[in-house]
Amino acid sequence: MTNCVHVDRDGDNMKSYQQIVDNWLQGEVAAFPTETVYGLGADARNAQAIAKIYEAKGRPSDNPLIVHIGQIEQLQGFIDHVPEKAMLAIEAFWPGPLTAILPLKSGALAENVSAGLSTVGVRMPSHPVARELLTLANMPIAAPSANRSGKPSPTAASHVLEDLEGRIPYIVDGGPATAGLESTIVDFTVEPPALLRPGSITEEMLISVIGDLQGAGRLREQDAPKAPGMKYTHYAPEAPVLLAFLDDEDVTDRIEQLRSQGKRVALVATDSYRGLPHDAFVSLGESNEIEAVSSRLFAALRECNQLPIDVIVAAAYPAEGIGKALMNRLEKAAGGNWL
Ligand code: TXA
Ligand code: MG
Repeated sequence: MTNCVHVDRDGDNMKSYQQIVDNWLQGEVAAFPTETVYGLGADARNAQAIAKIYEAKGRPSDNPLIVHIGQIEQLQGFIDHVPEKAMLAIEAFWPGPLTAILPLKSGALAENVSAGLSTVGVRMPSHPVARELLTLANMPIAAPSANRSGKPSPTAASHVLEDLEGRIPYIVDGGPATAGLESTIVDFTVEPPALLRPGSITEEMLISVIGDLQGAGRLREQDAPKAPGMKYTHYAPEAPVLLAFLDDEDVTDRIEQLRSQGKRVALVATDSYRGLPHDAFVSLGESNEIEAVSSRLFAALRECNQLPIDVIVAAAYPAEGIGKALMNRLEKAAGGNWL
């Protein structure tokens, strides 16, 4: 049985938050909203509680978790030292969608949080519900995205229910996650710092604050170390996904070719592409702004599972700025396949 606790972004939710904090102190898990996606949280000092996260998600045990805090002072409790460039980035981008990989203070967290690594990813979310909850908790909360492993990340409480109903005791429903793509991850334990996962804090924004970033230049891309989780299949709806630049002249022909093979096509695109052939249209919204498209992507991929279709054609975007993060997720959802 999963309890859904509704909170109002601007209301007084102290009683609800206290209930969730008590649940965490008792070694249980609870999902909560952040500005990127919903997270599945548990006390990062409690190995049994952390094991419940891996269990509920069906997550491979070699894939470490990100630790969430409400106040910067909490870093001292489990970080060995904060490198200078990490401090600059933290001052510039926290609270917000930046995860910093930092040296872990040995023994300060349950070992299964970092999957045995000597580093740990930390982030301070800006979502008001996450901030109030984490500040009240005043303990490090490990939280991966609150989806079943391999599924698109949840951007609404209903998505969490879809994947984890009956597997977790609580969901805090604080409305939709606004950014819709997971945080940018930067490893500050190497010099220069390395981009491990692109997000809405872009390379350009990071470089302007810390000067240099591995993985940002084309030549260095192959050498960049990867977040362990990036090697697993991700974000996949049930039908296969094909990417396409929908302004291409021959895109109509290529979609019709699929349909002539008897395949029912779901088109995932912004409303201006409704004129292209399709058997089902899943809207990414009206606006072609990358931020707006990104915030709708995971919900749209989930919607495809409700439709009688055989293949998904998803709109591709130039991999620039936040477009790089959007295309990173789309390429994974498509397993690298293009129309
Ligand atoms: O926006 C987000 O980051 C969301 C919200 C809930 O905060 N969380 C999230 O967590 O996306 P998750 O577990 O789905 O993705 C975390 C990624 C994984 O790919 C993992 O391998 C990587 O971070 N990671 C965690 N700790 C790491 C470490 N010490 N070194 C390298 N990569 C790490
Ligand atoms: Mg995830």
